[in-house]
Amino acid sequence: MVVTLTRDGDLMVVTVDNPPVNALSQALRQGLLDAVATVESDPKVRAAVLHCAGRTFIAGADIREFGSPSQPPHLPDVIAAIEGTGKPWVAAIHGSALGGGLEVALGCAGRVARAESRLGLPEVTLGVIPGAGGTVRLPRLIGMETATEMILSGKPIDAERARAKGLVDLVTEGDPLPSARTLARSLSETPPHPLSRRPCPDVEDGSGFWEGREATLNAKGAGQEAPLAALKALRSAATRPFDEAMGIARSAFLALRDSTQAKALRHVFLVERGAGSDPTLADIPPRPIESCGVVGGGTMGAGIVAALLEAGLPTRLLERDEATLAQGLNRVGRILDGAVTKGRLAPELAEARRALFSGTTDARDMADRDLVIEAVFEDLDVKRTVFRTLDKVLKADAIIATNTSYLDPREIATATTRPDRVIGLHFFSPAHVMKLLEVVPLPETAPDVLATALALGKRLRKIPVRTGICDGFIGNRILRILRREAESLLLEGATPSQVDAAMRAFGFPMGPFEAQDLGGLDIAHLDRRRLAASCAPAASWAPLGDALCDLGRLGQKTGGGWYDYRQGDRHPHPSPTVEELVAARRTATSDRTFSAEEIQNRIIPAMVNEGFHILAEGIARTPGDIDLVEIHGYGFPRWRGGLMYHADQMGLDRIRGALVNRADPSLAPSPLLDRLTKEGRTLADLNAPPAAAE
Ligand code: 3HC
Ligand code: NAI
Repeated sequence: MVVTLTRDGDLMVVTVDNPPVNALSQALRQGLLDAVATVESDPKVRAAVLHCAGRTFIAGADIREFGSPSQPPHLPDVIAAIEGTGKPWVAAIHGSALGGGLEVALGCAGRVARAESRLGLPEVTLGVIPGAGGTVRLPRLIGMETATEMILSGKPIDAERARAKGLVDLVTEGDPLPSARTLARSLSETPPHPLSRRPCPDVEDGSGFWEGREATLNAKGAGQEAPLAALKALRSAATRPFDEAMGIARSAFLALRDSTQAKALRHVFLVERGAGSDPTLADIPPRPIESCGVVGGGTMGAGIVAALLEAGLPTRLLERDEATLAQGLNRVGRILDGAVTKGRLAPELAEARRALFSGTTDARDMADRDLVIEAVFEDLDVKRTVFRTLDKVLKADAIIATNTSYLDPREIATATTRPDRVIGLHFFSPAHVMKLLEVVPLPETAPDVLATALALGKRLRKIPVRTGICDGFIGNRILRILRREAESLLLEGATPSQVDAAMRAFGFPMGPFEAQDLGGLDIAHLDRRRLAASCAPAASWAPLGDALCDLGRLGQKTGGGWYDYRQGDRHPHPSPTVEELVAARRTATSDRTFSAEEIQNRIIPAMVNEGFHILAEGIARTPGDIDLVEIHGYGFPRWRGGLMYHADQMGLDRIRGALVNRADPSLAPSPLLDRLTKEGRTLADLNAPPAAAE
């Protein structure tokens, strides 16, 4: 039974039990509707308390039902029944009250939430809008501005914030049920007006609020349908009667539910849930990690320390000498201070994290660590020296991880006597912010070490993606192709601003040239030198990028790269130096103009093709893993479902067609792409490991 009823004197306790997250399946909706009827018909019952078994309150509509026609009873009707009964219901919330779950709670007369619970309407992140009254009831409870903020961001808020905003009546430290009982009894004396019968507040300062929000959405979320539809639904709530506004929101929800973007976002949701789970490790428990070490407190090391501290892991930083140690400690300190200043971290939490952190210049101080992550210079000899030292001082079963971007972890591991305890953990910059973690096992890595690394990724609240060993792993290997293609477009007549604008219009937060200027051109330049020396000329091709580095134009940090920058201004300005550099390398026939679509249709198929090679070589296990890498490491628009999902939507024929006539032999369609196209299959067919072989 997904819903059970228990009489408690004059109260009915309605218990939902629909594991794993009490999603609103058809059976649950029916169960709730039946419960309303039972409560109503029992003369001894004056009120009801709704609570859930398991780890969470109702976490929303059942996403798995979205692909098929909606079956009655429909959620808005269930909520209307709860709200319309003469006997008040009170929601006792623990875990997450999300989407339809929060909408059910809004149909109740009162809400009590356990302190650690989270409440939100994340529908826009799934390409839909709240479809069961969220846009019409929430503003009536907490005001239009706050409701708009919650619905457009899709971000849940914690119980205390929810109380401060008026979304919940009471926050409890432990079980919310006893307080919910008390509240239900008291509300049965003087039932409040249901939200649907209260007036809807408009925005306090009407001047330009809606237009401003729309302009921001168009600028920031270019191409996304759901946030704009949610804004429209909210605006109608402010101006139309409840039932009419409800109808508008419901129609928009139903239309969006079957949209291409919603399907893409559901795909991302599902592959994210699977991230880091590996059926071959099902019987291998991860090792407990109780303390960590990080070697190298530069850009990456400091971010990694911050991420470990955030997960509550005592962490010690090892640096070369006192001066570099002081710099490393400072970098970590600045990350924590910054989070406090921006209001993202409570000062006492920052203090607690500082208490977990220490630094040393003596490798022997790492002896007690369960896991040590190396983030020193990208130089094989330096890394091997560090690994040799760690191998001598660490306990026998400690794990040593490398954060290398391009080097072969197998070569680093040969400096140790324990290659089975070595693994690659490739974080992305800034490491305490970026969600992606590429997990790179060596052939020798023991299964428990891999299981531990994947579990650590989850503990750090990252998206761990297992990758095989190759130059650049999954992400940087595709990035290299993106940059090559972008650079070749310049040589054929496009400008950096045109390429960047086209990729932003596609949905990337930044274009490839502005992104390089932000991160610095030097790391990739050094990597290309290494590749050229190891006879990989195609992969090291970047004549313009190399020329800029030779001129000392390394990006924003040197005042110029692909663009010029004025002192104290991060806004890119077209650079006459770059124009000259490009013009000198263009051939007479290559001076043509490109539309945004042409630019996208050059870059995206080239990236997809590399994705196919990566799949065929078994570097990525599924197309979905490549999608996760691109979304969480490189800003590929989530609402397009990720690189490989998008390829299916474009049509593999079209992808192949964009590649076949390219003069550059390195862009010849991958045999796997050829095969799938010939067989009329899609990548979705490959979304279960192991990857197909070429
Ligand atoms: N529907 C169906 N299945 C769901 C689900 C949902 N709404 N939410 C989670 N699940 C499934 C997951 O796919 C996963 O399945 P698996 O075990 O087979 O892989 C399982 O439940 C557990 O999920 P998590 O691993 O994510 O568990 P966590 O404890 O880490 O997180 C959570 C729990 C915070 C509830 C998280 O799952 C989540 O954010 N879920 C999505 C919530 C959401 O977006 N709700 C809104 C839906 S849209 C809606 O309600 C429309 C309405 O307005 C009409
Ligand atoms: P960085 O130059 O900012 O920091 C390196 C740090 O290592 C310095 O503080 C240095 O003093 C320290 N160090 C060097 N040798 C040491 C030794 N023997 N013992 C202790 N400390 C030592 O470099 P960054 O950018 O942090 O990169 C570190 C690693 O992370 C490299 O392997 C790099 O490829 C990788 N990486 C870098 C990314 C980036 O965007 N910067 C992204 C992902 C990975």
